[in-house]
Amino acid sequence: MSGENSSTPTSITLPWASDFHCHLRQGAMMETVTPMGRPHGPAMPNLTPPLTTTQMAVDYGKKLQKLAPNVHFILTLYLNPALTPAEIPRLQQPVYPSGVTTNSDWGAMQEANMVLCLHGECPSDAAKGICILNAEERFLATLRELHQAFPKLRIVLEHATTQAAVEHTVGCTITAHHLFIIIDDWAGHPHHFCKPVAKFPHDRDALRERPSALFPWLDSAPHPRSAKQGEKPAAGVFTTPILIPLMATLFDKMECLDKLEGFISTYGRQFYGLPEPIDGTITLVRLPLAVPAAYAVSGSASDGETVVPFMASTEIGWSIAKTE
Ligand code: NCD
Repeated sequence: MSGENSSTPTSITLPWASDFHCHLRQGAMMETVTPMGRPHGPAMPNLTPPLTTTQMAVDYGKKLQKLAPNVHFILTLYLNPALTPAEIPRLQQPVYPSGVTTNSDWGAMQEANMVLCLHGECPSDAAKGICILNAEERFLATLRELHQAFPKLRIVLEHATTQAAVEHTVGCTITAHHLFIIIDDWAGHPHHFCKPVAKFPHDRDALRERPSALFPWLDSAPHPRSAKQGEKPAAGVFTTPILIPLMATLFDKMECLDKLEGFISTYGRQFYGLPEPIDGTITLVRLPLAVPAAYAVSGSASDGETVVPFMASTEIGWSIAKTE
């Protein structure tokens, strides 16, 4: 860090961030977003069709690698009935359940020291009193049971949004946008709508208190503007292009810039055993950054389509000065 003194740095140089939950999509959107952020980390398997076999994941990885040759991608699979315990030791990926699995799968994963990545929400069910506001909290009991049955299985509750989740789970991660928004910010604002939805002010406060303990699972989830502004908005917030300046802005405001490197990079890399050091650095300066209103989705099929970033058309406090 440099600046007037160590408590008020005006610039900071960090290793590139790792993104532990990136939706890199397919086709034109994949070509647009994959080169944007050097997202070292797991690429999510919820494609069309979803990645359900090792071969599919390997083929997808080749496409991503072509677009971003220096990035270390961790490929993930949807846990599905075709994925047998016998095949699990051959996989080196974390898996992401499609909702169907068996106890033997968990046991095999534990043996293989794999990571189970969970989108921990119960499906909405009015008869059971479950809706998007309590879907995560209702899931925590299942998470506890799983942990008790398989204490060595490395489970991560993705994109935790509640005080209950960060206080009562073994391992969970948080997204950039959940550190900023609450219910009022997404109600009526489709570009802030994601799942799990952002919750109450006390939940956001609880997430903000944890930056030294958790690593961000950034869940940058781009959707074309037309899908976000349609009748039923697609869930997902796109943070990749502004991610690191945005986190510097927040950590500066919270007076804990010294925790930034651990949060965006070190803890997650250690957890996933990623090679160190990751190539390149990023230098940030405390100067306003004007966030664009939208990015064009490149590619012939996209027909003028755009993708709207988090904080579109606003200014954030830190900018990127240099990348190496
Ligand atoms: C994700 C997406 O867009 O792929 N959306 C989101 O709101 N987080 C899917 C998901 O994780 O539900």
